Amino acid sequence: MRKKIVAGNWKCNTNLQEGIELAKSVNELVAKKAADDVVVVLGVPFTHLTNVVESVNTERIGVAAQNCAAEADGAFTGEVSASMVKSTGATYVILGHSERREYYGETSEVLNKKLALALENGLTPIYCCGEPLEVREADVQNDYVKKQLEETIFKLPESDFRKLVIAYEPIWAIGTGKTATAGQAQEIHEFIRSIIAEKFGKEVAEETSILYGGSAKPGNAKELFGNKDVDGGLIGGAALKAEDFLGIINGF
Ligand code: PGA
Repeated sequence: MRKKIVAGNWKCNTNLQEGIELAKSVNELVAKKAADDVVVVLGVPFTHLTNVVESVNTERIGVAAQNCAAEADGAFTGEVSASMVKSTGATYVILGHSERREYYGETSEVLNKKLALALENGLTPIYCCGEPLEVREADVQNDYVKKQLEETIFKLPESDFRKLVIAYEPIWAIGTGKTATAGQAQEIHEFIRSIIAEKFGKEVAEETSILYGGSAKPGNAKELFGNKDVDGGLIGGAALKAEDFLGIINGF
């Protein structure tokens, strides 16, 4: 059965001390109050990885980087490689977030290199896709997302594809307070699962966790996660408050 996953994406928020405090609070709440069958992941800044790994029960909470370099190592000042991420004890990496695509020019070509390195180093990629507002308004979001997947993760061998988690995040819903309706989320998640089935077969499609992201909060998690093809969430703003994050984890 595919996993239910709630992953926080802290983005460029919290200094190290604040991050450790937040991780400890999440760890405590998850230990006491979270549903056992939900995989919890914290996507934290690079500088926090080692400390967050040390601050949580990693049997219960996975730690993710929010990016990794497109090169294995070498003269790439300022970059952090997949193997460096792995060496901190982190086990996931968020790749292809729309903010990275938009502000840092990450193309499918760059993402393919990052995906390969993440997988080589045993990290689980949480691969993001999702359309901007004008695409949604033109009602061609399925074509847009299909292309994003065909150019990247659909090129992987099946054995690697099986290791991925997908996050569908409509750009117009990220940090805007404007959430996709449960119906909109279900519709496109079902579409994504159908194209995975076309490409890799029904069994692989049924096993792939597809998360929703974009202004998810405790108040709308139930409605979103109640859909049969929504397997959890990638959570930005609401992941910065331990209680809110717990509310989402318990939103199934
Ligand atoms: P948000 O961000 O929950 O703040 O909308 C989600 C994301 O970008 O992953």
